[in-house]
Amino acid sequence: MSKKYRVGVVGATGVVGQEIIKILEARKFPVQLLRCFASERSLGQTVEFNGQRIDVEVLSQETLTDLDFALFSAGSSISKEYCPIAAERGIVCIDNTSHFRMEEGIPLVVPEVNKDALKNHNNIIANPNCSTAQMMVVLKPILDAVGIKRVVVSTYQSVSGAGSSAIKELEDQSRANLSGQELAPKAFSAPIAFNVIPQIDVFLDNGYTKEEIKMINETKKILGSDDIKVTATTVRVPVFVSHSEAINIETQQYLSADDARKLLANTPGVKVVDDPEKLKYPTPRDAAGKDDVLVGRIRQDVSIDNGIELWCVGDNLRKGAALNAVQIAEALIA
Ligand SMILES: NC(=O)c1ccc[n+]([C@@H]2O[C@H](COP(=O)([O-])OP(=O)(O)OC[C@H]3O[C@@H](n4cnc5c(N)ncnc54)[C@H](OP(=O)(O)O)[C@@H]3O)[C@@H](O)[C@H]2O)c1
Repeated sequence: MSKKYRVGVVGATGVVGQEIIKILEARKFPVQLLRCFASERSLGQTVEFNGQRIDVEVLSQETLTDLDFALFSAGSSISKEYCPIAAERGIVCIDNTSHFRMEEGIPLVVPEVNKDALKNHNNIIANPNCSTAQMMVVLKPILDAVGIKRVVVSTYQSVSGAGSSAIKELEDQSRANLSGQELAPKAFSAPIAFNVIPQIDVFLDNGYTKEEIKMINETKKILGSDDIKVTATTVRVPVFVSHSEAINIETQQYLSADDARKLLANTPGVKVVDDPEKLKYPTPRDAAGKDDVLVGRIRQDVSIDNGIELWCVGDNLRKGAALNAVQIAEALIA
């Protein structure tokens, strides 16, 4: 009989945790036992998995034991405190938060792109930022084919990227606005309903936000190249699920738009949806609930000799978080 694993989901009541549980079930990950952890607030709640109701346990040093894998999505401070404890106990931690991503010796992995980085880990593996993950599967085939000099990316990120409270804020504010009322923002710095906010995460001294710097640094680490120049502007939009990105890629050698289309059409995890004549291009609604990153609007940049412009859309809760984490676990057991 093939081996089965004891899997813990830390942050099991959150949007990413819930998606991890759905994906473990849908992909038939060999689970011997699933344990679901959250805070005291969730005591008494249950989570459904494979037709069973599983009690949510309160995360503590005492409860985080007897597991093979722990998939963390309960915030950076929780990962900071508990991943080292779990790792010490022989539990392989796959962390969705930003805490360990840039730490030397901790692999930061998108399995389609840099699975080899999994060969060396000390029981902690980091999952990239949601916007970075979807961009990686698009950049990697282009990097391998013609080299990349510079990437300029602007994101249009959904509210689910900021967790369950942000989803509720968009719902509540939209309803309030439509009935002529205002609701003060809590999850964001400005109202998100019928608005666009050019800030994700906190501002840093250089004027970039932390989310933008995460995209820049994580891209270089995953692609294994400090030479690629990257700049980003990250923006929150009133969309529930899926992040969109306009990406400008300056390549080392010439790549025609047709060849870029063919290259991406043959890339695992990517689906090209690009037929401007029929007004076909991917939107966040198309990507929500799907595993593939959808790419369209592929065209040559008219302002430089070697450049490609494209638009890519991915479900931030899936490729941007839960799916990628489960794919890492699958790669480890393969
Ligand atoms: N949303 C995304 O697209 C995305 C993508 C990549 C990475 N991430 C990262 O994943 C993490 C979670 O994001 P989310 O969007 O799922 O947020 P969320 O919907 O707010 O869920 C947070 C989860 O963490 C749990 N939690 C909070 N404090 C805890 C504590 N002291 N002890 C144990 N559990 C605790 C919550 O449990 P209670 O319900 O009991 O409070 C809940 O299960 C964040 O670090 C985020 O940056 C999110």
